[in-house]
Amino acid sequence: MAVIISGKELATKKKNEMALKVQDYLKVYGRAPHLAVILVGEDPGSISYVKGKEKACQEIGIINTTIRKDATITEEQMLEMINTLNADDRIDGILVQLPLPKHIHSDKIIQAIRKDKDVDGFHSDNVAALYLKQKGIVSCTPKGIIEMLKSIDCKIEGKRACVIGRSNIVGMPVAKLLLDQNATVTICHSKTSDLASVTREADILVAAIGKPKFVTAEMVKDGAVVIDVGVNRNPETNKLCGDVDFENVKEKVAYISKVPGGVGPMTICCLMENTLECYLAHMEDKND
Ligand code: GUN
Repeated sequence: MAVIISGKELATKKKNEMALKVQDYLKVYGRAPHLAVILVGEDPGSISYVKGKEKACQEIGIINTTIRKDATITEEQMLEMINTLNADDRIDGILVQLPLPKHIHSDKIIQAIRKDKDVDGFHSDNVAALYLKQKGIVSCTPKGIIEMLKSIDCKIEGKRACVIGRSNIVGMPVAKLLLDQNATVTICHSKTSDLASVTREADILVAAIGKPKFVTAEMVKDGAVVIDVGVNRNPETNKLCGDVDFENVKEKVAYISKVPGGVGPMTICCLMENTLECYLAHMEDKND
């Protein structure tokens, strides 16, 4: 029976530490960090994510301004709004909740965010920085996964890691971070043949494929560490569930994260960390 890696508990601990730091920053810099979040439309998932971000900001003492816009907003209007936030010296971080309505090109919007305010780490300059091992903002979910592994003292160096999924937001960057920690990394996807033969070799298995109960007990190595990044609805119960058949897999592995309460809270926690990073860089820039 596996030990459950609680992203929720780890996030709470880290948020408490950040709250203390923010009190000190207030004394030194005279103002709190400020995160602007843009939410377009009425997608219930997006509304719920944004609420989670607002709550985390409140807990830590980060000022949060959520700008809600109707789905009819034009791309030009959005770009204008971002330019205003880019130029606003009191705003440290800018996040545009995705997905956006179809008539707006997300790439264009993300690229318009100043790279030093891009708390999501989605701007191509920040993505490039990760791949070139340069200083930049690392996206929140991959960063959270590495922090979860560190929290259990998981030695990454020399291990075989397998990532199922190759998205720009999770699969690719988490594979790169694991590689940078000297794991030997295999990236699998829906077209991988005999997937189980690959996943069974993994000491660290990261599932980010977006299919409920996709990872079964037969697919994991005894004693592996399994991180479930899935955010799905269980078709039977309509409840939130991950990519891993938790009840069966937990019997075989050493450590496992759960959905909900696993990677999700750590994504938000790392967003808060990134906001503090942007704020500190901003404040130190001004003192130069
Ligand atoms: N939609 C779902 N996850 C995310 C995220 O991490 N960042 C943004 N901006 N939108 C999302």
